[in-house]
Amino acid sequence: MRKKIHKILVTGGAGFIGSAFVRLLLKGGADVNENLPELAVVDKLTYAGDLARLQGVEGKYKFYKTDICDKKSIGAIFNKEKPDILVNFAAETHVDRSINDASAFIETNIRGVHILLEASRRYKIKRFYQISTDEVYGDIMQGGFNEASPLKPNSPYAASKAAADLLIKSYIRTYNFPAVILRPCNNYGPWQYPEKLISVIINNAINSRRVPVYAKGWNVREWIYVTDCVEAIFLLLNKAKAGEIYNIGSGHHEKNIDVVKQALRILKKPFGLIEFVKDRPGHDFRYSLDSSKIKKLGWRPKVDFLSGLQNTVAWSIANYGWLLDKEK
Ligand SMILES: NC(=O)c1ccc[n+]([C@@H]2O[C@H](COP(=O)([O-])OP(=O)(O)OC[C@H]3O[C@@H](n4cnc5c(N)ncnc54)[C@H](O)[C@@H]3O)[C@@H](O)[C@H]2O)c1
Repeated sequence: MRKKIHKILVTGGAGFIGSAFVRLLLKGGADVNENLPELAVVDKLTYAGDLARLQGVEGKYKFYKTDICDKKSIGAIFNKEKPDILVNFAAETHVDRSINDASAFIETNIRGVHILLEASRRYKIKRFYQISTDEVYGDIMQGGFNEASPLKPNSPYAASKAAADLLIKSYIRTYNFPAVILRPCNNYGPWQYPEKLISVIINNAINSRRVPVYAKGWNVREWIYVTDCVEAIFLLLNKAKAGEIYNIGSGHHEKNIDVVKQALRILKKPFGLIEFVKDRPGHDFRYSLDSSKIKKLGWRPKVDFLSGLQNTVAWSIANYGWLLDKEK
């Protein structure tokens, strides 16, 4: 029998990336000291959270429907679970929503992180992993940001994530707190909520609806398939140094308009579905990461962009009902 030595608390584990992390971890995808960890998942189940994403691994994790801003409940969960490691995916994540109203972003992405930090400090957690984002650096016309680049967030979402990073960095310095900050680029893949670009494109195109594209579609994003991102996080569970920051970028950049055209081609839908709409206020032009630090630890993305997109399209067709349901 495998000895369980790690107890991992995953916050935001019913979201898009958090659930991929939980599914793969429980299927033995991560070599965490060569043992399967015990897992507890905390999620508020906002509009973006859904336990359906964890089908196939039911009964293999404990679940708490809890808000990370609920200090008392978080304290009780720490007391009961006594986790060794916390991986925080919980966040409000959609830039457009943050532009309409940033309140929930300030609450969850900053105050919620503070509550997790304090509970982790009190219960002397061994490692605290914060899933940050490439958006904290702002945009860059050429080259890529490395982990020492200054933070220049441009949306309320990015600013709330940057604020959390700064708070965590202060805990590292002041309390010698064992945190690690991870900054992935744009993720895509199965189970993504249909408000993010690739999921919207596919969902609209399947239904032969117009596919909205901001401005002329020239904005550039760096895209990573979600399992590649999760594998990078697995590697860092073993190899990250406390107090460090790691970018997780695929090195694959695409203009938004080219992403739309590739998806339409896979779906055999006409480019006539594309509808150019008024640009997002403050829209970052290009995101790009220098990911040499994590690559030196041996990580490489495995899924090329076209294959990842084809997989996502195939999954979306097979799970058409789930996507439609999210629009209600
Ligand atoms: N999706 C991307 O492309 C991307 C890229 C870089 C970084 N990130 C970061 O990765 C993390 C996960 O992103 P995602 O795309 O899976 O997001 P998501 O929106 O799909 O999932 C977020 C999850 O957090 C939960 N949540 C929200 N507020 C909560 C609260 N107060 N208490 C407890 N749970 C709460 C939601 O219910 C949901 O399950 C986020 O921190 C995000 O900033 C995402």
